Amino acid sequence: MIIAIDGPAASGKGTIAKQIASVYGLHHLDTGLIYRAVAKALLDAGRSPENAEAALAAAIALDPAKFGEPALKTQKVTEAASVVAAIPEVRQALMNYQRAFATKSPGAVLDGRDIGTVIAPGADVKLFVVATPQVRAARRVLELRARGEDADENAVLADLLRRDERDSRRSAAPLKAAPDAHLLDTTHLSIDAAFRAAVDIIEAARTGRKRR
Ligand code: DC
Repeated sequence: MIIAIDGPAASGKGTIAKQIASVYGLHHLDTGLIYRAVAKALLDAGRSPENAEAALAAAIALDPAKFGEPALKTQKVTEAASVVAAIPEVRQALMNYQRAFATKSPGAVLDGRDIGTVIAPGADVKLFVVATPQVRAARRVLELRARGEDADENAVLADLLRRDERDSRRSAAPLKAAPDAHLLDTTHLSIDAAFRAAVDIIEAARTGRKRR
């Protein structure tokens, strides 16, 4: 079984994906980490994230063993990841790794921006997770503060909106719901309620019954 979970930053898709993978016994890939790893490699080498040639070389040299590095979550890397993710050659170079992951046995949950549209268009279930920008910014502020980083709510909201805009407007695999994706709005849902709503969608899709 392949489950594709897409949506904008801080919509709750990552948390849902992790829990779903754990409950169903599936592999999980947070595909944002791939773009973050490429961005960090560029920044570490003193290169611009807009440098397509250097970004492609970093994408080809991708090392999944480094996906756990806390440094991938810094604001600098976050911003640069959105820039490298707009380079079509970079996306192309990272496609095989993601598609191979998606077909691992017994199945996989992948979360990102283009899983249901480009990476796994044949996924068994597709979720598109959304929440209002204000709620997403508030979640991100809590996350950053929990990690000891400075976080101003207005600045975080502005960053999120800028990133949404860049991720949605790019020509290569923009952030958008697949036509057959199920929309899940987590604006007013707790983490647990969002997880239960996701399970309900998945079970309905698997058994062909109507959602509650
Ligand atoms: O989900 P995230 O915030 O970790 O993603 C970081 C950046 O990577 C995000 O701005 C857009 C990009 N991304 C993408 O273009 N496609 C994906 N499948 C996942 C992430």
